[in-house]
Amino acid sequence: MPDPCPVTRKHLQYVAERTRGDDDFLVALKESAKAAEIPAIWISPAQASLMQIMLKLKGAREVVEVGCLAGYSAIQMARALPQGGRVRTIEISPKHATFARDWIHRSDVAGRVDVLEGAGVDVLATLASNSADAAFLDADKENYPRYLDECMRIVRPGGLIMADNAFAFGQLFDEVPQESGVHAVRRFNDYMAAKPGLHAVIAPIGDGCWIGVKE
Ligand code: DHB
Ligand code: MG
Repeated sequence: MPDPCPVTRKHLQYVAERTRGDDDFLVALKESAKAAEIPAIWISPAQASLMQIMLKLKGAREVVEVGCLAGYSAIQMARALPQGGRVRTIEISPKHATFARDWIHRSDVAGRVDVLEGAGVDVLATLASNSADAAFLDADKENYPRYLDECMRIVRPGGLIMADNAFAFGQLFDEVPQESGVHAVRRFNDYMAAKPGLHAVIAPIGDGCWIGVKE
């Protein structure tokens, strides 16, 4: 058996071309976010599909997101939930929270997404233990370990914990990373891999997406 082949940009392009793309609403959301000078660092449609499929398989109803940005991933996740499902998404920037609320309100999942404004650590502390079926971390990388600890409390046993940017914005192996968060991502990846009570793996989709099950 040859070694499994490395995942290249070409593979990711191939995957993207065989994945559901954005509908007109999500295309418009992204255009509007760019016009509002919100950084275009949302997850890829392929990663959204991966996360939606995980949520559907889990039958998730309650999802917690840390880092809402423009609301793209919250809307995508909400679309994978049944009627009565809910995404609670945490956002520290008032500008981003206002933008996301506006687009969520106009979306097909209005009423299924609550934007909670504040710092991740502060807001997570207010959420009840075992009150979520799934969580997604996609905020400041320095605090990822703290977010993970809180989500291990908030997500029920058997629930799903996902985290974005395991490949550190493509700079995971760079000797002199340009992004300040790269070292934090490396530290977090080791922390998540060794987390007791969590069975997790990095899916090489998008910028690397951690998929974990709380045991
Ligand atoms: C950055 C943050 C993200 O969550 C992401 O997906 C890409 C980039 C950043 O801080 O640069
Ligand atoms: Mg991200």
